[in-house]
Amino acid sequence: IDQQRIRNFCIIAHIDHGKSTLADRILQATGLVDDRLMKEQYLDRLDLERERGITIKAQSVRIPYKAKDGRDYVLNLIDTPGHVDFSYEVSRSLVACEGALLVVDASQGVEAQSLANAYLALENNLEIIPVLNKIDLPSAEPERIKAEIEEIIGLDCKDALLISAKTGQGVPEVLERIITDLPPPMGDTKAPLKALIFDSWYDTYLGVVVLFRVVDGRIKLGQDILLHSTKARFEVTKLGVFSPDPIALNELGPGEVGFLCAGIKILTDARVGDTITDPDNPTLSPAPGFKKITAMVFCGMYPVEPNEYGTLKHSLEKLQLNDAAFTFEPETSHALGFGFRCGFLGLLHMEIIQERLEREFQARLLVTAPSVIYQVRTLEGETLPVDNPSKLPPLNKIEHIAEPYVHMEVHVPNEYLGAVLALCEECRGTQKDLRFLSSTRVIVTYELPFAEIVYDFFDRLKSVTRGYASLDYEFIDFRPSELVKLDILINSETVDALSIIVHKDKAYAQGRELASRLRSVIPRQLFEVVIQAAIGQRIIAKERVAPMRKNVTAKCYGGDITRKRKLLEKQKEGKRRMKRMGNIDIPQEAFLAVLRKD
Ligand code: GTP
Repeated sequence: IDQQRIRNFCIIAHIDHGKSTLADRILQATGLVDDRLMKEQYLDRLDLERERGITIKAQSVRIPYKAKDGRDYVLNLIDTPGHVDFSYEVSRSLVACEGALLVVDASQGVEAQSLANAYLALENNLEIIPVLNKIDLPSAEPERIKAEIEEIIGLDCKDALLISAKTGQGVPEVLERIITDLPPPMGDTKAPLKALIFDSWYDTYLGVVVLFRVVDGRIKLGQDILLHSTKARFEVTKLGVFSPDPIALNELGPGEVGFLCAGIKILTDARVGDTITDPDNPTLSPAPGFKKITAMVFCGMYPVEPNEYGTLKHSLEKLQLNDAAFTFEPETSHALGFGFRCGFLGLLHMEIIQERLEREFQARLLVTAPSVIYQVRTLEGETLPVDNPSKLPPLNKIEHIAEPYVHMEVHVPNEYLGAVLALCEECRGTQKDLRFLSSTRVIVTYELPFAEIVYDFFDRLKSVTRGYASLDYEFIDFRPSELVKLDILINSETVDALSIIVHKDKAYAQGRELASRLRSVIPRQLFEVVIQAAIGQRIIAKERVAPMRKNVTAKCYGGDITRKRKLLEKQKEGKRRMKRMGNIDIPQEAFLAVLRKD
C-alpha cells in the first residue's frame, strides 16, 4: 500500500473516559464489524478484560476506510490500556503510531492519566487530536473542558471534536480528521528491513505471535529474519494483519502494522521493543528499544497441592510469554513448601495474573501478601534487593533498608483537597507542589513510599473524594526508611509467608490489626489457635481462635441429606484453598489479610 494512504493511530484517555467505546464505534462506523456481531468492547479479547471492563493488552486492528475524498485508506488502530499499572503498554504502543486521539470525558475534564498519556504522546512526537466525549450527557461542559485541555496540556482546542461514543454522534468526523490531521508514515521502501516489535504473545496453536510495525523496507512470507538484540534467526511462516480477524498476507511494507509467526518458541526471543531485520541486509539503525520495565510488587504463589508444582511452573511460563512485565522465580517457604516469587507492576496487575492462572490454566493457588521490593544495605557494604520480607537479612547485619519512592500527582476538586492532603500525610508523603488549575480544581504533587500506595491507596482516595480524584505516579528512587519486619506466629511458630515489612511508627498498629484480622479468617480447629504478631523477639499483639465444639454438620438437623452434602461440598471447596501448617489449616484469606483495610 502507498504510505500516503496509511494512518497509524492510538486512542489515549484517562480510565473510563470512553476509549474502548470509541474504538467499538470506529469499527462499526467503518463497517469492519457488523452491527449484529458487535460485542461491547470488541478489542478486549480476553474474557477477563471484558468482565472487568478494562483493557489489559494492547491490540491492533486494521481498518479499511473510504474517506470523503473518495480514496481508500488503511487505518491501523492500536488500542492501549488506561490503568496506571499498565502505562508501559501505552508507551510501547505509541511508537507504532504517528498520531493519537486524546479522549477526554466532557463531563469530567482532564484527569491524571489524560495528562500523563498526552505527555507520553508528545514525547514520542505524535500528532494529537483532542476529542471531547460523552457530549450526550446533560452534565457535559465541552467549552469549559476545552479551556482546561488548553490550560493544562497546552493543546489547541479550537478544532477539538465533540462526540458521543455511546450514540455514535461525531464519530464520522473523527475518521475524517484522522485522515486530514494525522501524518502518514514516512518509511523508506528501499532501505533494509526494519520493523519494531510492539507486542508479542503466546498462542497455543501458533506459538509466539509477534505484532510489529514496519518502519523501513519490506517483510515477506518465507523470508529469514534476524532479531537485532538476540541475533536469533527465524523463518517467517505466517504473516498477516488483524482486521479484526487474522488475514494472511505475503508481504508488508513501510508504515504497515501486522503480525508474524516464525517458529519462535520462547517469548524472550521476540522481545517487545526489539527490531526485526533482514539477516542478509541488516538495518544500520535498529530502534533503541524500550525502557526496561521492572516489577515493583512481589508475592509468593504456591500450588495448593504440592504435586501441582510442575503444572504451575508451566502455566507461569506460558503467562510470561504474554506479559513481559511479569516475572517469576522458584522460592521455598517453610510454611508453604515449593512455589514461586512473582513480580508485577502493581496490585491490579497481580490480581489479573492470579485470575488468569485460575481461569485459563485451572491453577489452584495460594497467594501470599504482596510486598514492594526493598534495597538492603548490609554492614559489609553490599546492596541486596529483597522482594520477600522473610528473606530480610538479620537486623544485626543491616546498615539500612531503602524502599522505593514514587512521584505522585493527584487531580482533585477543591472541596476534597483537605482530605487528600490528610491521606497523603498519613501515607508518609512529602508535599512537593500544589497547583490550582482553575477556581475548582487542584493538582497536588507528593513524593511518598510506594509501599504506602500499593495496597489500598487508590480505594481510599476514591472514597475520601467520592470518586472525584485521579492519580498518576512514577518511580523516582530508593530511599532509606526506618523499616522493621513484622512476623506472625501461629501457635508459637513463625509463619514465614505471613511476614511483612512495615514502617517502625506504624508497626504496632499494623501488628494488632493484622492479628485481629487473622483471627477472623482462620477457622476454628479442634484445639485453640494462638496468633501473635512480633517484631524481633517482642510480641506486640495476641489473639485467640477458640476451639471448635461441635461437628460442623451437626447443625444440619436430622436427615436433610442435600443440605448436609452442600455443606460438606462447601467445606471441600474451602479446603482447596487451605494450607495445612503443622496441624492447622490456614485459608487463603489469611495470607491476604494484610490487604483488607476496612
Ligand atoms: P478502559 O478501557 O478501562 O481504560 O476504559 P475506557 O476509557 O475504554 O472507557 P469505556 O469505553 O469502557 O467507557 C467507560 C464508560 O463510559 C462505559 O460505561 C461507557 O458505556 C461509558 N461511555 C463511553 N462513551 C460514552 C458516551 O459518549 N456517553 C455516555 N453517556 N457514556 C459513555
